[in-house]
Amino acid sequence: MNQAEIRNRIRSATHQDEHQAVTQLLHSNPLSRRARQKILQDSRQLVSLCRADKQSSGTLDAFLLEFGLSNAEGVALMCLAEALLRVPDALTADRLIAEKIRGGNWNTHRGNSESLFVNASTWGLMLTGQLVSLDKEITQHTDSWLKRLTATLGEPVIRAAVMQAMKIMGGQYVLGRTIEEGLKRGAKNNSPETRFSFDMLGEGARTEEDAARYLKAYASAIDKIGQHQSGDADNSDSSSLYKANGSLYRANGISVKLSALHPRYYFSQHRAVMEELLPRIKQLCKQAKQYNIGLSIDAEESYRLDISLDIFEALAKDPELAGWQGLGFVLQAYQKRAPDTAKWLIGLARESNRRLMVRLVKGAYWDAEIKHAQELGLESYPVYTRKANTDLCYQHCAGILLDAEKEIYPQFATHNAYTASMILELAGDRQFEFQRLHGMGHILYAQLGEQVSDRQLQVRVYAPIGNHKDLLPYLVRRLLENGANSSFVNRFLDHQTPVEELLEDTRDQVTASFPYQHKMIPLPEQIYKAAGEKRKNTSGIDLDGPLETAALLETINQTPLLNSHPIINGEEVEGTEQENQLQQAFNPTDQQQLIGHSSNASEADITRALESAHSAQPAWNSLGHSARADILDKVADLMERDCARLMGVIA
Ligand code: FAD
Ligand code: 2OP
Repeated sequence: MNQAEIRNRIRSATHQDEHQAVTQLLHSNPLSRRARQKILQDSRQLVSLCRADKQSSGTLDAFLLEFGLSNAEGVALMCLAEALLRVPDALTADRLIAEKIRGGNWNTHRGNSESLFVNASTWGLMLTGQLVSLDKEITQHTDSWLKRLTATLGEPVIRAAVMQAMKIMGGQYVLGRTIEEGLKRGAKNNSPETRFSFDMLGEGARTEEDAARYLKAYASAIDKIGQHQSGDADNSDSSSLYKANGSLYRANGISVKLSALHPRYYFSQHRAVMEELLPRIKQLCKQAKQYNIGLSIDAEESYRLDISLDIFEALAKDPELAGWQGLGFVLQAYQKRAPDTAKWLIGLARESNRRLMVRLVKGAYWDAEIKHAQELGLESYPVYTRKANTDLCYQHCAGILLDAEKEIYPQFATHNAYTASMILELAGDRQFEFQRLHGMGHILYAQLGEQVSDRQLQVRVYAPIGNHKDLLPYLVRRLLENGANSSFVNRFLDHQTPVEELLEDTRDQVTASFPYQHKMIPLPEQIYKAAGEKRKNTSGIDLDGPLETAALLETINQTPLLNSHPIINGEEVEGTEQENQLQQAFNPTDQQQLIGHSSNASEADITRALESAHSAQPAWNSLGHSARADILDKVADLMERDCARLMGVIA
């Protein structure tokens, strides 16, 4: 199959039937029963060792416990801490908090106290895994609530709690405010072999100004990383490492979100994206090439996948980037298209005569993907609806990538002990690296390193850099990951969950449910019916889907010559008199293109139309509301059925 054919397969697989997709995965699953048993055993042992590790109590879990706060109190203090983080004050955090707690004046926020607590549900989920509601006393009389809390717990406790909350927010998931700080802290807090992929916080640029700011931040970060790297390389003990083949894989790199670089990063803006965004990312790649470091393009929302492949292909084939092995793609295993995309990447590496880096992840936007598809009334979901299906797809894609040793340098990003053990089993002695996020997974990989002391584990840390202003979207994804009960990290260190329950064989988990899609997540069209309502969801058009938009455009372009005449009493009246003669109508953007004929109503036509409407009214009225509603429903159904034709006519 050639590259164009695989691209088409990727497109067709976007909304593939989940049961069918999983059946295919099960047929191509390469692991033997023995290997599966070993993975299970290894991962269970790994988790037990991690649980025994003294460092293992998580910052977030410990927060409420440490200060003896109720859920609502903890969440409210998080919100106050968040507001404090936004204060650009030179005072030390401690003094600032003390002042704020003693002096109160939170109520000056009264008019917009909602904005003070706007992220309460976010923090609630993060801290407790549940939605926590804050009562009026907290949100509207914040000062007196805080005074009461201070009287009960003591000011030092509250101060320490707010400090801790600020630290969690800023420090747990972000390595530094600037790249310099990140480089320094990264080196200080990790073993000397640790490598980083720095991520400049910021995504979904809304304006050109945003995009220019993010581009500048990335460009300057690459310079700093590159210069730091060259500095490292001069050290006598490491210079040979960097000069040797593969030095790039041992160097720090950067991860870039394309949505940060352009405010219109959508398929529907294809031309603008290729003309404006592509040169920006190419500029960053050229810089990365100059320093011989890796640059990975993060995977974002699934509706951006297709256009991201066009950009990636253009970069891979660009002669100015030839010879650089640091171009990286991120593949999301929760997408039904993942296996075909992996094959396409291998083909691209061959075509462009280079080895590509591919980071395999499960995907961080699951909740948003499900909602997006429901909201648009899409045919199906682009992602799996059961976690085990995603795990199986991850395993399958890992096999595909590992088998393409010449074309792909695989990077396996996960915090799941089963997934990590599975990779070790699957990889054997083939080359790859693990990746974890800063603030997560450190205990897992420290233990794993000891367990497999016979092979040196390469672990790269994805390290966000930036300030609080740009943190929230990233933080929300981390909180979903930490808070979701389906997520491994959520129960990883919870002694109440036996390891046998936490870790099960993926294939067994997949086949334990039938059909393979989740019963509680009906297809987008069925969501209202599933909730007991009679209506079905409106069906929408996937304007980010090349196949759907091509079909839509084809129908629109087939719009016949239109005739538009007054309709009186159900009959079309073609113009006859001088003033309402048949007229030709031309496309307003192309005056040469005849699009139809029209005639206007005459005075007499208008009078007749009013008379006929007037005389029809009693019959329409006596139909009753439900019969009239049926007619409206029918009109709506016909509009939906002939939507593309109607769009052509309207356009
Ligand atoms: P697990 O707990 O085993 O898996 C959780 C994942 O399972 C969820 O994130 C989701 O993908 C999937 N899932 C959960 N519920 C369901 C369900 N009902 N049906 C189907 N699937 C479900 N993510 C990106 O999207 N883009 C990136 O560029 C990216 N870069 C990353 C870089 C690094 C270094 C790391 C460690 C992660 C990165 N991620 C990225 C995040 C990643 O996608 C996962 O969200 C995260 O790592 C959790 O996977 P896990 O194997 O650790 O955990
Ligand atoms: C995210 O931003 C890590 O890229 C991943 O959530």
